[in-house]
Parts: sequence; structure tokens; C-alpha cells
Amino acid sequence: MRWFASKLLVLLSLASLVWGNTESFFLKVPKDFPIRPADQKDGQFTTVISLEHSNNAKITYEAEIGRRRLEFIELQHLQVDETYQVKICWSALDPISIGEMDWFIVPHSTSFEGTVSEGARIFIQFAVTNDSYPPMEAGTVVPINVSVINCKLGIPVDLYGVIIYIAIIVASVAFLSKKINLCGMIRR
Ligand SMILES: *[C@@H]1O[C@H](CO)[C@@H](O)[C@H](O)[C@H]1NC(C)=O
Ligand SMILES: *[C@@H]1O[C@H](CO)[C@@H](O)[C@H](O)[C@H]1NC(C)=O
Repeated sequence: MRWFASKLLVLLSLASLVWGNTESFFLKVPKDFPIRPADQKDGQFTTVISLEHSNNAKITYEAEIGRRRLEFIELQHLQVDETYQVKICWSALDPISIGEMDWFIVPHSTSFEGTVSEGARIFIQFAVTNDSYPPMEAGTVVPINVSVINCKLGIPVDLYGVIIYIAIIVASVAFLSKKINLCGMIRR
């Protein structure tokens, strides 16, 4: 099952490569990442994806072409020692490319982009660049969907439904072909 699932994952990522407007990467929260106490105030960072009471979340981020070199999003309520897939999707109608995807930890009480938090924070970053000729006008707003998905057994949880569906089909086909063989044997 795990082998099958990893093959399927490769196929699905290839498929999204062909469609051309998804980029993704994985991050693993360190075992010793300090958990935010419940009563602690959130930092003042404006763009946040929160996984409170959830194993996946999505926001639509409005990127302004040519405004900033890098875009940053804070991830909140991740679990320690868990792996997450960060998926960045945009419409094929927008001629942009996404690069410099990464994640990093900002230690507690450390200023980042003019904000400070009592707790350690996790950020992701990516660069949005125009990929067209003639180039897009500076300040053009492009909506970009950013999802964060918890991975169990190395598989993002949002793919479980698809995997179960395909597994049922594979099992049914195997079952039916066995039956057909059996009929052939009886006839002989
Ligand atoms: C982004 O998310 C919105 C809201 O869920 C959806 O309507 C839109 O189709 C998504 N766009 C892309 C490019 O995935
Ligand atoms: C678009 O890309 C070109 C070439 O990479 C660059 O020179 C130009 O400044 C970009 N335009 C904006 C608005 O970012």
C-alpha cells in the first residue's frame, strides 16, 4: 500500500507539473520547536495560515507583481515533528513563475519585517515574478492559492480520498479478472 501510494504520489505530482501551475515543497517541524502557549498573543504579522483544529488550510494570497522581492507567510498552529506540504497554485491565465520557495524559523522576541512575537515563528517564503512578454505592469495583482497540508505516512492528507478511490478500483478489477479466469476454467 505504501509503495503503491508513493508511486501514485509521483504520478499526481507529474500531472500537476504538466498542468504547470502548481509548485510545492515539504517542511518538517523540528521536535524541539517551542509550542505556543494558548494565552500567548499572536504576532502582528499580516499574512497567516493557521492550522488550528485542522490538518490542512488554504488562503488566497494577492501578490503584487514587482512590489517585493520575496513574499512571506507565517504558519501558525503546526504540530512538532510533523511534515507538511506547502502547495502554491495559480491560474494558467496569469503568466508568472514562482521561485525561491523555502521556509525558516524566526526565534522568539526577534524582529522580522517589522513584527515581533513572544514565541518562535515559522515562515514560508516565495518569489513571484512575471514570466511574460511584454512584461506585466508593476503592481498587477495576481491571486495565488497557498495551501498547507499535513502529511501522514509521507502522503498529504488531501490525497487520501483519491488514493482510497483508486485502491477500490484496482481491487475490484483484480477481483473481477479472477472471476473471469475462474469461469474460463470451469468451461474447460
Ligand atoms: C483558488 O481558490 C479559490 C477559492 O477556493 C478557487 O475558487 C480558485 O479556483 C483557486 N484558484 C486556483 C488557481 O487554484
Ligand atoms: C518582468 O520581468 C522582466 C524580466 O524578467 C523584468 O525586467 C521586469 O522588471 C519585470 N516587471 C515587473 C513589473 O516586475
